[in-house]
Order: sequence, then C-alpha cells, then structure tokens
Amino acid sequence: MLKKLLANCRKPTGFIGRLFAGMMNWAHGPVTREVVELLAVTPEDVVLDIGCGGGAAIALMAGKGAKVYGVDYSETSVAKSLATNREAVRDGRVEIQVADALRLPFSGEMFTLVTAFETTYFWENIQECFMRIHGVLRPGGRFAITLEGWKGENGEINCPKVFVDNLAMNLYSEGELRELLSAAGFDSVSPLKGTWRKWLCVMAFKRR
Ligand SMILES: C[S@@+](CC[C@H](N)C(=O)[O-])C[C@H]1O[C@@H](n2cnc3c(N)ncnc32)[C@H](O)[C@@H]1O
Repeated sequence: MLKKLLANCRKPTGFIGRLFAGMMNWAHGPVTREVVELLAVTPEDVVLDIGCGGGAAIALMAGKGAKVYGVDYSETSVAKSLATNREAVRDGRVEIQVADALRLPFSGEMFTLVTAFETTYFWENIQECFMRIHGVLRPGGRFAITLEGWKGENGEINCPKVFVDNLAMNLYSEGELRELLSAAGFDSVSPLKGTWRKWLCVMAFKRR
C-alpha cells in the first residue's frame, strides 16, 4: 500500500498523483526557492526544467522573466504544472509537455540553463540523459541538479529511509555526478552552496 502510494513520487498518476504533484510543490518549496535564487535566473535565460512535477520551479523561474520550458514523463505532472502556470502558459512565457529526460523533444543548442529538481533518482540511463542535456545547452550553458537525497563520499545515505526502502531510488554522490557529467562532455562541475544544508546542488557548465 505504502509502496503503491509512494510510486507517485517516481511517476504521479491519476487523482492521487495529482495530489502528490501539488504536495511536492509545497514539500520541495524551501530548496527550490533557495536554489532558484542562487541560480540568478534573468530575463535573458531560456530554461528547461526536466521532471517538472507540479510546476513550482517553472513558476519561480518564469517569475524572473526567463522563458521557461518544462517536461515530465508523467501526464499527471504535466497537467498539474500547466495548471500552476496557467497565466504564463497563456502568455507564451512557459511551455510544458510530456517527455522523458532520455528523449528530449528539442533540437539544437537552445537553452542557457537546464534544471532538474529532485528527479534524477528516477532517470533510466542517466549517462545518456546527461549527454542529451549537454546537446541542447548553448555554449557556456549551465545544468543544475538539485537533490535532497544523495550519497555522502563515504557511502552514507542522506535520504529518509521510507523513500529509500520503497522507491528503488538511484542515489548519487557528488563525486559520482561529477564523473557522469564529465563523461557526458561537460567542461567543469562545481557544487552550489546554500544556507540550508539538507540539499546538494551540482552545477555543470558546457564549454563556451
Ligand atoms: C519527486 S518529483 C519532483 C518534481 C519537481 N521537480 C519538484 O521538485 O517538486 C519527480 C518528478 O520527475 C518526473 N520524472 C521521473 N523520471 C523522469 C524522466 N525520466 N523523465 C521526465 N520526468 C521524469 C516524475 O514524473 C515526477 O514528476
């Protein structure tokens, strides 16, 4: 029962999934708000948020004047994200569609920033996903992975046990992410430091 409910964190589905997508907007609010501030998004940015869930990060970044695209492989998440960003979608400032991180429906180097909040735990073939993201970033573009669940460098797990036990999450350490991002072609990788210690954000840069 618990496993079935929590599966909505991996892929929100139906009515309960929609409630989960709404809850995620609230539960991930503190980390999302802090990281969006640190990313210093400007009106010149063209952003892609992958695994957009309930759409709160999209709303924050669109609020900074950026053009924001969102994708999520869950139709339920996309519906909730569209509702969260109704006005911005109507005004053409936000576009959201169903898509898997592995099969991004964009061609060319069109984004200055790609974000992934609390979602890489669930991505299949993450190395390939990172390569696709590298491909859609403009030269000098940034990719920010934000996580509240991760592995310490000594293998210790920083993530509530209820999620680890029920969700088959892939937890990465900062070092593992660095290796995967470098192998995907990113030029440099550095952590983004915040005041709230309960999260890890790794930023990767594409060569100019
Ligand atoms: C835990 S939620 C996080 C949602 C939102 N980013 C947030 O921080 O509140 C994970 C989201 O990632 C989506 N997701 C998982 N794997 C994905 C993939 N391979 N491609 C696209 N979306 C994915 C899920 O459908 C879900 O909406």
